[in-house]
Amino acid sequence: MNKRLLSGIQPSGTIHIGNYFGAIKQFVDMQDNYDSTIFIADLHAITTIQNKEELSANILNVALDYLACGLNPNKVCLFKQSDVPEVTELAWYFNCITTMPFLERATSYKDAHMKAKEVTVGLFDYPILMAADILIQDADIVPVGADQKQHVEYARDIALKFNNIYGDTFKLPEPLILKEVSIVPGVDGRKMSKSYKNTIPLFGTDEEIKKCVMKIVTDSKLPEESKNPDVCNIFALHKLFLNENELNLLRDRYIKGGLGYKESKDMLYKEIIDFITPMRNKRELYEKDLDKVRLILKEGAKKAKIIAESKIKIIRDNIGTNI
Ligand code: TYM
Repeated sequence: MNKRLLSGIQPSGTIHIGNYFGAIKQFVDMQDNYDSTIFIADLHAITTIQNKEELSANILNVALDYLACGLNPNKVCLFKQSDVPEVTELAWYFNCITTMPFLERATSYKDAHMKAKEVTVGLFDYPILMAADILIQDADIVPVGADQKQHVEYARDIALKFNNIYGDTFKLPEPLILKEVSIVPGVDGRKMSKSYKNTIPLFGTDEEIKKCVMKIVTDSKLPEESKNPDVCNIFALHKLFLNENELNLLRDRYIKGGLGYKESKDMLYKEIIDFITPMRNKRELYEKDLDKVRLILKEGAKKAKIIAESKIKIIRDNIGTNI
């Protein structure tokens, strides 16, 4: 039997190339060899998006993105989190065995707290809901970017604690993080992230993508000067699109001098457009048939619910609420 893979993305904004290379590409590459469940974490997104139209539009957009990127609904169980409410029941059980200091160590909470943002109970509890997502589906492996590593470790710790209290109930999931793409940099060199406003949208228009690429921060070396590719934010992004040979040629041109940053940006822009064009075309086809997309999510939810219902039954038995 194949191992069970599970992962998800929050519909909290537009998918960017960090999401693609850090996560979605792995979902697609692994769909043939794993029993895969990929979902849209819409309940998580409510911690930031509290506007009905925006949330609904974002959910559909992530579904379109998944399909356009190559997730095959005949191989992967695709659904939205809110269609499987057993996950929120499990999150409650986890709430009752998890301490406040444990959650206070979560980086998502610490970041928000440091920025003096008012932290909602939902945001504080975010890692618990994520643990429930993973554990209710009996996932063995969770492909994510480096920023989600701690959350998967939380899921393991919570599973262990539950198993200690109530007896063996959950498998311990493993994060899968590909080193080279674990932190895809944004146009300012920091981790690409919606909250830093340094993203390149995966399905932006040509103009949007061009604008982002032209914003990439560089030093002020002149075209004729020799440049160090290893500290160049443009070069870091070329790595996502070029093969080893092409990268070596570009590296030589950086070192030799004669290649301006503008030319390197123009090349990168072209690489991105060439790369996404087939996915864009696929996305347009699905956009014309949103009912089909809704049906795919509905069918996926049915499958995810079968697993979640049988798991929650065992959990209730173990907890003692089944009398
Ligand atoms: P989210 O929506 O913030 O990000 C989705 C995925 O994209 C990865 N990622 C990156 N990878 C590399 N470089 C980057 N710059 C970059 N930015 C984002 C993230 O690591 C993630 O894998 N909490 C999750 C969603 C979630 C989930 C789950 C994931 C909810 N329940 C259960 C796995 C299992 C999140 O907010 O990801």
